[in-house]
Amino acid sequence: MVDTRVVLSGITLDNPVIPASGTFGYGREFAEIYDINILGSISFKGTTKDARLGNPLPRIAECPDGLINSVGLQNPGVEAVCREELPNLAKIYQKPLIANISGFSIEEYITCARAMDKEPQVGIIEVNVSCPNVHNGGMAYGVCADSAAEVTRAVKEVTTKPVYIKLSPNVTDIVEIAKACEDAGADGISLINTLLGMRIDIKTRKPVIANKMGGFSGPAIFPVALRMVYQVANAVNIPVIGMGGVSSAADVIEMMMAGAAAVQVGAANLVNPYACKEIIEELPALCEELGIEKLADIIGIVK
Ligand SMILES: Cc1cc2nc3c(=O)[nH]c(=O)nc-3n(C[C@H](O)[C@H](O)[C@H](O)COP(=O)(O)O)c2cc1C
Repeated sequence: MVDTRVVLSGITLDNPVIPASGTFGYGREFAEIYDINILGSISFKGTTKDARLGNPLPRIAECPDGLINSVGLQNPGVEAVCREELPNLAKIYQKPLIANISGFSIEEYITCARAMDKEPQVGIIEVNVSCPNVHNGGMAYGVCADSAAEVTRAVKEVTTKPVYIKLSPNVTDIVEIAKACEDAGADGISLINTLLGMRIDIKTRKPVIANKMGGFSGPAIFPVALRMVYQVANAVNIPVIGMGGVSSAADVIEMMMAGAAAVQVGAANLVNPYACKEIIEELPALCEELGIEKLADIIGIVK
């Protein structure tokens, strides 16, 4: 029998498959169609200090092999997340969670981290310094090594939970930023967030997305994500959660061979709500076919 367990900062996951933040909400809709307790963990929707309605519509543009989203961190705000969403999620999912947080100032990141620190079910705090869909904040912190390190230090000061920094691919040197976060005390790195993209409706001669640009993700970005996971995993000594275009068990194995200790699945959940379930079910057979007895053994096996 294949051992699919992986460990992130002392937390053992039954398997490495985790729905990516913003593509699984708080699990409710998915729990109606399958038992979500099969998931390794869940990175729930990005939480900000205040409630956010998100960006104007339309905010999704379909592309070949992917999609552009400009949701803009729609969420009820950290108080409501802790008061309502997390207790509801606890009824349908009983494993440690990944709390994805975002901010428009260091203080806002601190407020969210403090709140998540008090939540017993939160195992890891994933700090999004890479959202391309909000102005002044979000990605602004993730495109510069100094500011990414500043957010890391600030969050680390207010929590004892492991802190993973989620990086943007919209940078020249992702390794420099990942290393700055590691030096600032990060316990892990998540990557990648979406690539800044755009579509134009040639009939209306207007951008498809109301906000003009958005974050491109889905299978088309997989090779870019894999390359960045490989580069970062080889440069840091902390775990890397890999994501970007993962939609099959083979993609999970490829990401892990590149250096990912666990893998998140994003856009695939929007195309096929059973995506994570199918990947988890396919993994053991594919491992057997490839002669893998223990999934953790392949992490970073490609040098
Ligand atoms: C609709 C949508 C909403 C997202 N919201 C968030 C978010 O709130 N926080 C975050 O860190 N990433 C967010 N992301 C980025 C994903 O978590 C993931 O990093 C990215 O989509 C790449 O993975 P994929 O190619 O599998 O979609 C969102 C992505 C999509 C498609």
